[in-house]
Amino acid sequence: MSTSSSVLVTGGAGYIGSHTVIELLNSNQNVVIIDNLYNSSFEAVRRIETITGKKVTFYKVDILDKKALLQVFNQHPEISSVIHFAGLKAVGESTKIPLDYYHNNITGTITLLQAMKEVGIKNIVFSSSATVYGDPPVIPIPETSPIGSTNPYGRTKQFIESIIRDLCTANPDWNAALLRYFNPAGAHPSGILGENPLGVPNNLMPFLSQVAIGKREYLSVFGQDYPTRDGTAIRDYIHVVDLAKGHLAALKKLDDQPGCVEYNLGTGQGSTVLEMVQAFSKAVGRDLPYKIMDRRPGDVTNLTANPTKANTELDWKAEIDLDTTCASLWNWQSKNPNGLEDCPGDAPPELVIKYI
Ligand code: NAD
Ligand code: WQD
Repeated sequence: MSTSSSVLVTGGAGYIGSHTVIELLNSNQNVVIIDNLYNSSFEAVRRIETITGKKVTFYKVDILDKKALLQVFNQHPEISSVIHFAGLKAVGESTKIPLDYYHNNITGTITLLQAMKEVGIKNIVFSSSATVYGDPPVIPIPETSPIGSTNPYGRTKQFIESIIRDLCTANPDWNAALLRYFNPAGAHPSGILGENPLGVPNNLMPFLSQVAIGKREYLSVFGQDYPTRDGTAIRDYIHVVDLAKGHLAALKKLDDQPGCVEYNLGTGQGSTVLEMVQAFSKAVGRDLPYKIMDRRPGDVTNLTANPTKANTELDWKAEIDLDTTCASLWNWQSKNPNGLEDCPGDAPPELVIKYI
């Protein structure tokens, strides 16, 4: 990418997007963020500016709004690639309102791809998920593992992967990196940016950190009858900054014009739920309360990445250990007990572009 070009980051005010924007800015790349702020706050953009010391170009835009997307592309003809994070991401919610998930994630992505096609932008990095593997037959999971998600959210990722793959097949000058994230965790080392869950957190680490801060009484451990070393399920927790750096590596890979490529972004190391409780308790400095409950429907025993393909082809490797990951989460949570909730969250009106 030339120094005068820009990367459009959809969903750049969100958890993974904001950390990726920081890494892009720190490596002197120009960034344009769009986000509809449905699950994030404009305060995240201000904090990116504080951390990097750079002014951020942001527009409040919905990816379903093609006219608004085209306006951004026309205002920024230097945009040459897109990192696409924008989407709804709660597995449980997706089983209750599947149409909203299919519309926002799939129609939204098609609208974005159409707008890119109209202006001739042909490089995209897409946020996929390890959930596309369903209940995998082999651990650690290679990219060649069968695809078959068990929930509507995961199916949006699976379908979008196919849409992007078909687009690249039909147009060999398009390039795409489909990044299958394992379990992102942790926060920025500054302590001023991290995950900002609205309402009751669905995921393990944000819930556990709300137990630590006193907002929740105890953690419900979902199942201790899995065939694992302590009976609880295994996941591959990757620090969000390592994950963010994976996007820069993937973007660089697109310069080689690889067509459509898939990569697992994980550490290759699995941890059980109880190991995570122990690791986070260590960071907090006291034992955190938990109760063993029934399994959560839809959960699988083990999702651990085989990250060899990303390690070799992207020259990228997760480097941050679990203790540092837990310490960064506690640093963020203890300094910001309510996340970004107490800050003014909406974008100034001059940054809103809206036609739908
Ligand atoms: P997030 O909710 O913090 O960020 C997503 C952002 O997209 C939010 O800021 C939200 O406001 C925005 N958004 C949603 N719909 C939009 C729309 N129609 N138009 C414009 N903006 C919209 O989530 P995250 O954890 O940062 O996840 C980023 C991406 O990574 C998502 O696509 C998610 O599915 C994927 N992913 C996340 C995880 C995880 O555990 N966090 C794991 C695998 C994949
Ligand atoms: C981790 C482990 C739970 C909460 C999901 C999506 C995936 C990605 C990350 C997407 C599991 C256990 C959890 C709790 C618990 N998201 N757990 N008590 O289910 O691996 O992955 O989130 O964008 O696509 O599928 O993550 O953090 O919810 O759960 O015991 O209160 O912790 O059963 O074993 P999961 P998670």
